[in-house]
Amino acid sequence: MGGNEDHRPIAVVTGAARGIGKGCAEALGRRGFDLVLVDVLEDELAATVEGFARGGVAARGFIADVADHHRAQEVAGEVLERRAAIDVLVNNAGTPMPKGLLEIEEHEWDRTIDVHMKGCFNWCRAVAPSMLARGAGRIINISSVSANSGGVTSAVSKFAYAGAKAGILGMTRSLAKELGPWVSVNAICPGAIKTEITASMLEARAAEFIGSICLGRLGTPADIGEVAAFLATVEPNYISGQAITVDGFQWAT
Ligand SMILES: NC(=O)c1ccc[n+]([C@@H]2O[C@H](COP(=O)([O-])OP(=O)(O)OC[C@H]3O[C@@H](n4cnc5c(N)ncnc54)[C@H](O)[C@@H]3O)[C@@H](O)[C@H]2O)c1
Repeated sequence: MGGNEDHRPIAVVTGAARGIGKGCAEALGRRGFDLVLVDVLEDELAATVEGFARGGVAARGFIADVADHHRAQEVAGEVLERRAAIDVLVNNAGTPMPKGLLEIEEHEWDRTIDVHMKGCFNWCRAVAPSMLARGAGRIINISSVSANSGGVTSAVSKFAYAGAKAGILGMTRSLAKELGPWVSVNAICPGAIKTEITASMLEARAAEFIGSICLGRLGTPADIGEVAAFLATVEPNYISGQAITVDGFQWAT
């Protein structure tokens, strides 16, 4: 990224080194966005940025923990030194929390809330002012089907994760009201998506999962990326404050 690039739209994707975040970045890159990719995994992020460069997509990687408020301000500030505004923000970074109420430690609860909910707050706070100043922007928050259904007792993520993801839905609806009509804010609730973090669990229970998914397969990062790219680009846009479930219609877990 460099030079006179203000004519191209720019998207920030958190947790973009791999998985669903990378899938969202790929879909946005295909639609002509310059990319700002945020993650904590240095090597994976460098490889992802390099992959985009090879494909002719302008991408910059920033090492940042989304739970770090100051770092979000710093990274957004650095991007906005060169660009008038950030067009799209995808709040995707997240980690599972497989512990139930009787096993979880206080610091694990705090960390789950910090990464998912505070991370979403930190990046909305860092990016929204430039969107409002320009009078346009789109924010897409990655929640989960578990926000509505509750964490699955035998899966990687239980009540703390489900609570944090439900909190993201509340934030999505509130921010849609607060930032409209200039900025649309929507959430995506993925179902069982095969990524680095879920692969072993999903492979072990593949038959059971696939048997309960009407579209007959596990999801992929591209399935979520395409919906994120739709929300980021649809014109005219009349969608805000919504949570879109993308799970192949899984009727039981
Ligand atoms: N895979 C699924 O089935 C599924 C289902 C519902 C929701 N989700 C959500 O989708 C998002 C992506 O999940 P995934 O399956 O791609 O996982 P993943 O582990 O493959 O990718 C997550 C990425 O986020 C990064 N990350 C984690 N914590 C971070 C932090 N504090 N700061 C910056 N980066 C951080 C990781 O390093 C990683 O690159 C998460 O929010 C997850 O909760 C996933």
